[in-house]
Amino acid sequence: MIDIILYIHILAATVWVGGSIFLFFLGIFLRDKEAQKQVYLHIGPLYGYLESVWLTILIITGLYLFYHFSLDNILATGMPQKLASELTIKLFLVAFITIATIVHMYIAFKTHGKERTKLQLFLSRSSSMAIFFLNLLILWFAIQIRSSL
Ligand code: HEM
Repeated sequence: MIDIILYIHILAATVWVGGSIFLFFLGIFLRDKEAQKQVYLHIGPLYGYLESVWLTILIITGLYLFYHFSLDNILATGMPQKLASELTIKLFLVAFITIATIVHMYIAFKTHGKERTKLQLFLSRSSSMAIFFLNLLILWFAIQIRSSL
């Protein structure tokens, strides 16, 4: 059973992280403004729904793994110290990425097909940048936790 949960967790991570990297690079390398507008107009909502489902799967399967390995005890006692700090960092990063995703999706759905204000543009770009970099960090800490278990 635990192998299946870990498999789903890693599958969800590949879809979630892969999608965020793809869209991030699309924003940078697709320079044609009209093409960019069309791409986001058509795939934006689909991508948004799909990715939020995978993030939810990541959190649910992550919580299962967390209790399966009794990591709540490790957080409570702070021992072993290395694993406890890796876990704390990963959980904080996941909390930040969830907030950044909510901000990003809120603006995306509110302004879909409309012009954005400067503040909306800033929040949308900074949250997508945050999602991209936080993902790279989360992957790093996920691997550290795995080797400390
Ligand atoms: C954006 C969210 C997340 C991403 C991208 C992510 C990614 C990953 C990846 C790639 C692994 C496998 C590491 C390896 O086998 O070397 C992993 C393992 C693990 N994750 Fe996550 N994770 C996320 C959220 C969570 C959450 C919210 C929790 C707990 C509440 C969690 C708990 C765990 C645990 C305990 C493992 C270790 C299980 C094992 O390797 O046997 N993860 N995660």
